[in-house]
Parts: sequence; structure tokens; C-alpha cells
Amino acid sequence: MANLSFLSMGMIFFLCCFAAVATAARPNQGISKYKDPSQPVHARVRDLMRRMTLQEKVGQMTQIDRSAVTPEILRDYSIGSVLSGGGSVPFPQAKGQDWMDMVNSYQNGSLSSRLGIPMIYGIDALHGQNNVYQATIFPHNVGLGATRDPDLVKRIGAATALEVRATGINYAFAPCIAVCRDPRWGRCYESYSEDPSVVQAMTSIILGLQGEIPAGGRKGEPYLGGKDKILACAKHYVGDGGTTRGINENNTVIDWHGLLSIHMPGYYKAIIEGISTIMVSYSSWNGVKMHANRFLITDFLKNTLKFKGFVISDWAGIDKITTPPGANYTYSVQMGIGAGIDMVMVALNHTLFIDTLTKLVNDNVIPMSRIDDAVERIMRVKFMMGLFENPMGDQTYLSQLGSQEHRDLAREAVRKSLVLLKNGQNADPPVLPLAKNASKILVAGTHANNLGYQCGGWTITWQGGSGNNLTSGTTILGGIGKAVDLDTEVVFSENPDADFVQSHNFSYAIVVVGELPYAETAGDSTNLTLAEPGEDIIYNVCSSVKCVVVVVSGRPVMIEPLVAQMDALVAAWLPGSQGEGVADVLFGDYGFTGKLPRTWFKTVDQLPMNVGDPHYDPLFPFGFGLTTEPTGEQ
Ligand SMILES: *[C@@H]1O[C@H](CO)[C@@H](O)[C@H](O)[C@H]1NC(C)=O
Ligand SMILES: *[C@@H]1O[C@H](CO)[C@@H](O)[C@H](O)[C@H]1NC(C)=O
Ligand SMILES: *[C@@H]1O[C@H](CO)[C@@H](O)[C@H](O)[C@H]1NC(C)=O
Ligand SMILES: *[C@@H]1O[C@H](CO)[C@@H](O)[C@H](O)[C@H]1NC(C)=O
Ligand SMILES: *[C@@H]1O[C@H](CO)[C@@H](O)[C@H](O)[C@H]1NC(C)=O
Ligand SMILES: *[C@@H]1O[C@H](CO)[C@@H](O)[C@H](O)[C@H]1NC(C)=O
Ligand SMILES: *[C@@H]1O[C@H](CO)[C@@H](O)[C@H](O)[C@H]1NC(C)=O
Ligand SMILES: *[C@@H]1O[C@H](CO)[C@@H](O)[C@H](O)[C@H]1NC(C)=O
Repeated sequence: MANLSFLSMGMIFFLCCFAAVATAARPNQGISKYKDPSQPVHARVRDLMRRMTLQEKVGQMTQIDRSAVTPEILRDYSIGSVLSGGGSVPFPQAKGQDWMDMVNSYQNGSLSSRLGIPMIYGIDALHGQNNVYQATIFPHNVGLGATRDPDLVKRIGAATALEVRATGINYAFAPCIAVCRDPRWGRCYESYSEDPSVVQAMTSIILGLQGEIPAGGRKGEPYLGGKDKILACAKHYVGDGGTTRGINENNTVIDWHGLLSIHMPGYYKAIIEGISTIMVSYSSWNGVKMHANRFLITDFLKNTLKFKGFVISDWAGIDKITTPPGANYTYSVQMGIGAGIDMVMVALNHTLFIDTLTKLVNDNVIPMSRIDDAVERIMRVKFMMGLFENPMGDQTYLSQLGSQEHRDLAREAVRKSLVLLKNGQNADPPVLPLAKNASKILVAGTHANNLGYQCGGWTITWQGGSGNNLTSGTTILGGIGKAVDLDTEVVFSENPDADFVQSHNFSYAIVVVGELPYAETAGDSTNLTLAEPGEDIIYNVCSSVKCVVVVVSGRPVMIEPLVAQMDALVAAWLPGSQGEGVADVLFGDYGFTGKLPRTWFKTVDQLPMNVGDPHYDPLFPFGFGLTTEPTGEQ
């Protein structure tokens, strides 16, 4: 059965490519203008829209999750886009080929619709193609912010685009360019920094994901550089990181100047860099839901900033315009589309959305000009990216998933993301870099031997997972084991008591503790403590032996009372699948270079506290980071 469907897919693929080649060779001979790649994009858009019924236009404005879609639905409703929400996979541990077969079968449905308009497939590729088993998992954005290296981040974008293409997918809901102003926010690790200028610099990832607009190309137009690139999505417009007490999806209270200077700079840059899509935030600005904010979406983003791509909602984001969500769906659709949203991530019930929007248009509540604006933007992106010519996933990218080259890049990113916060007690000599030739060392802690924990949320599943079978990679313990001399005995004990530590003659200990994985609202925290028994492990180990503490977390956490116990302290953020990068720096093959992308607070009651605030009294200030020299012996 599996072999048979693979064969038919291959044939479809062959026929489709043959048709595209034939089309290019004989332009204008009896084919519709919109299907003719020799025509300029605007002419193709105009020709296609002239042929579309209202039902087809509304269908193109609709995005549904793969769990609620069939090829027949895509065909019958001319659905514009399919997505995989966090953890929405064809089946557990599906391979690249399985993903590609799934996406291609959906695309086949779209191509068999009346006008044959291909769909785009979107996924939360936030730190690599992270829903996919055995993909390379890069550090989460907070760690990339610590690198202060926009070129590295651009290369990660390019690698991510290849791994996404390896699954037949052409659209990522990334980057998150939130400026997280309060680490109690559960999405804070998706933010590069509390400082808008760092976030702005890291929009370089867009140039990696989509490609760079060539010299002479039009800056500020949506752009895609080729079949090895994917559409990107700047999110969440706007002010998502500024909510009250960091409560997810809550209210961002800030004046116009504050909004422009803190939360908007990333968007100016993203638009110049050719961002194709922008996702609206669940949050509110001064009490108005962003999904219903016509001023910020239509007047400012589209008319003032001249954004020419399309605006997409968040998952069931228009439903949340009302409290409780979905209380008046007609009102939600009216407000959301009226505000200027072009594509709605309906998520699950496509008929409800399509029927509601169609009725609002037929009742003259929503003008046809609004629908045409939305569809024109969606079609401009689809033609611009060459989707009509290359709708199907391309087998040649399959080998990119989790490739050694990408894992090496992730390891480089881990090295550069580590921030050294303490190195030696008082006048004692520095502890780091550590000797590789010690006779016996202790590695301890909840996060030392747990690939799931070091990857964090948005890894294989929405909330992330635990253990070393979650996907493939190297734990921090594994990296240490490979780095030390063959003669060195590495003793691992997750939660050793003080007697155990004292009874051994360890040269030193590495303690790896942190936060458990989380995503979105589930990650909101009011206490920002280390996961149990992290504090006990630090006390038990550091009171008896020279210790280096490595914190694996999505944000600064409560460590102030513990720092005096530690001989050295490293913030490792959420490093992802390549834990070797931690050992590379602990043992001096490379120096520490990372700088804090966030203010490290002393106590939670200081929050929010950001660089530049009056009464700034951090444990470690924004931009702090000790350095070490590489030892030169590898
Ligand atoms: C493609 O669609 C056609 C009908 O439109 C169907 O007969 C065929 O089985 C589909 N192929 C795949 C691989 O989905
Ligand atoms: C913000 O959070 C509070 C407390 O959970 C809640 O009562 C309020 O409705 C939220 N506001 C918004 C705009 O979501
Ligand atoms: C729902 O909202 C619409 C406006 O979009 C309004 O006309 C209608 O009365 C509302 N329905 C209810 C039950 O409040
Ligand atoms: C979609 O919504 C409509 C109207 O509320 C309802 O009748 C239908 O059962 C829903 N479909 C699904 C799949 O939930
Ligand atoms: C460990 O290596 C360092 C640097 O090469 C050297 O100075 C030291 O003597 C070595 N120690 C042992 C116990 O071999
Ligand atoms: C992980 O996989 C190994 C080998 O396949 C197996 O022995 C072990 O039980 C698995 N562990 C978990 C927690 O699933
Ligand atoms: C402890 O280890 C050091 C070298 O790492 C060694 O010189 C010393 O003899 C050891 N002490 C005991 C009691 O084993
Ligand atoms: C901190 O808050 C979390 C919920 O956000 C809770 O599960 C945990 O028990 C709290 N820890 C302490 C030490 O209060």
C-alpha cells in the first residue's frame, strides 16, 4: 500500500513538472494568463481574481489545521492554506518522506480545484523544523539574542528553510520578533531580547529563511529567493511581549511613543527585508484586541508602513476577540476581517468561517473591496514565490533534515549563546575553562542528561517533552563525556546527596539544572523558580566540591541566594539538540563570548525591570557576560 502511493506520487510529480516545463516553453498558447509564468505577477493576480467566485476568494482566506483537512475539502472549498499547529504531525516519529507525502497529497487536492490554485503549508518552525522527529533543534531565540551575531542567525534561517523544505513545507510561522519586557511571560524564550535594537538586528533570520532581495530588487516587497527558501512570518503584531505582569495574551498598556520605540522597530526592519506575512497578536493594546485593531493593522501596517504581504491571524485568534472565545462568531469575523486580517487561521471549523464571512459579504456588512484586498495580497505572495510552477515538495531536499552540517551550525550557536555570569569565588583563580584531564568528575542535575529538557517547548510536541528518546541529539552530559580525556572518570548522578559528593574524590562538579519545558500560557510563571530539586542539588554539590552551575532555562530565573555557593555560573538558555556546544566552551576549546539579552533580576518583585529603567538594580545587568580565552589545546 505504502509503496503504491509512493509510486503514484512520483508520477504526479513527474507530470506536474513536465507541465510546468511545457508551459514555460510555449507561453500564451491557450493557457490561462494566470498560469503563464512569463506574465508579471500583478497581471497574473488580476487575471486570476477576475475568474474567482466569492466562494473561492473566501476559501483562499481560510487556513485549517491538518487534523481537520482532507484533499477533498481543499479541492471543494479552494482552501488557501493548511497548517500544522504545535505537535500536529502525520503520526509520531514521521520521517521527512512521510511529511512530504502528506503535504503533496493535500496539494494534489488543491490542484484539482476548479482554478487549480495551490495551497501553502505553514508550520511553527521556531528553532529549526522542530515538530519533526530527527530535525536539527537550534537554540531558542533568547539564546540567539545572547550571541549578538546576526550573521549566525541568518545562517540558521537558511538551514531551517532547507529542513522545512525537506518535509515538503514552504511556510514557517517565524520569526517571533516579540520584545519580551517581563520574563514571567511563558513565551519569553521566543523573544531575542528585551532590547528592541537586538531584536531588530536578529530579523536577519528572515534573510536566511526567505533569501536576500537582490541588488536592484524592490526593498519592502514580499520576497522569496527560490525553491530552497520558505515564506517567513513576523509575529506577533504588535506588543505581544509587553503585557501586564507578562500574562500571555493579555493587555499591553503603553503610549504611542512607547509602542513605536519598543515593539515596532522589528517590524520596520522585517518589512524592508521582504517579510511575506505578519501574524497578529492575541494580546490587546490599551484594552483593544489586536485582532480587531483596524488602526494598527490597516491604517498603520498596510497604509503607513506599506506592508504588501498578507496579514494572518493567530490560531482561532478572531474567536478570542470576544470573551469567552467564540461567544459571537459573526462579530469576531466582522471585526477581524474588518480590521484588515487577510488570512484567518481558522484552525478547525472551515465551514463555520466560510459561511459566516460569505454571509457578511452578501449582507453588505463587509465590502467586496476588503475581500479583494485580502485575496490580492495572498495571490501576490503565491505567484511571487513560484508556487504555481513548483507546488509539490521536492525530494532532493530530504537529506537536509538533521544533516551533520546543520548540527554543526547548531553546535556553533550553542557555543556563542552561553553567557558566563560568574567565574571563581572572590579572589580565587577562575574555575573555567575546566581541565579535561581531571581523574574523576561529577556531573549532576535534572537537566544534565535530558535532551527534551534542553530543547524546551515547541519541540516534537507543543509543550515539549522529557528524556533522550524525544528526538535525536546529544545531551550536555554526552557532550562532556566526549570532551574529557579518555582516562577521566565521569560520574553522573542526577540528584546526589551531600554524603555521596563528599565520599568521592571529585576534582570538580558540573551541575545542570533549570526549568521544565513549556510553551505559551502554560509557561507563565509568577515565581520563576528552578524546577525541583534544582536548589537542593546546587546546595548538596556546591557545598562539598568546586562546582560549575549551568542553568538551562528560557529566561532568567531565581538564583540570587544560590550564587554565593557556586564557583562558576553559566546561563545556557534552551540550547536544543546539540549539547556538545556546552562542553566546547566549558573545557576551553572555545571562549565564552555571549552577552545577556535580558536583565537578570534579583527578586521577582522587581519585575518588570528592563535596561534603561529608572531604579535599575539587577543581579546581572543587560549586556553582562564574562569572557574566557580558548586554551588552544583541543
Ligand atoms: C490526486 O488527486 C486525484 C483526484 O483529483 C486522485 O485520483 C489521486 O489519487 C490523488 N493522488 C494523490 C497522491 O493524492
Ligand atoms: C488579563 O488577565 C486578567 C487576569 O487573568 C484577566 O482578568 C483579563 O481579562 C486579561 N485581559 C485581557 C485583555 O486578556
Ligand atoms: C453578534 O454580533 C453581531 C455583529 O457582528 C450583532 O449584529 C449580533 O446582534 C450579535 N449577536 C448577539 C447574540 O449578540
Ligand atoms: C462547525 O460549526 C457548525 C456551526 O456551529 C457546526 O454545525 C458544525 O458541527 C461544526 N463542525 C465541526 C467539524 O465542528
Ligand atoms: C592536565 O593538563 C594540563 C594542561 O595540559 C597540565 O598542565 C597538567 O599537568 C595536567 N594534569 C594532569 C593531572 O595530568
Ligand atoms: C528509549 O529508547 C531506548 C532504546 O530504544 C529504550 O531502551 C528506553 O526504554 C527508551 N526510554 C524511554 C523513556 O522511552
Ligand atoms: C584525590 O584525587 C587527587 C587527584 O585528582 C589525588 O592526588 C589524591 O590522591 C586523591 N585523594 C584520594 C583520597 O583518593
Ligand atoms: C512556582 O509556580 C509554579 C506555577 O507557575 C508552581 O508549579 C510551583 O510550585 C511554584 N514554586 C514555588 C516554589 O512556589
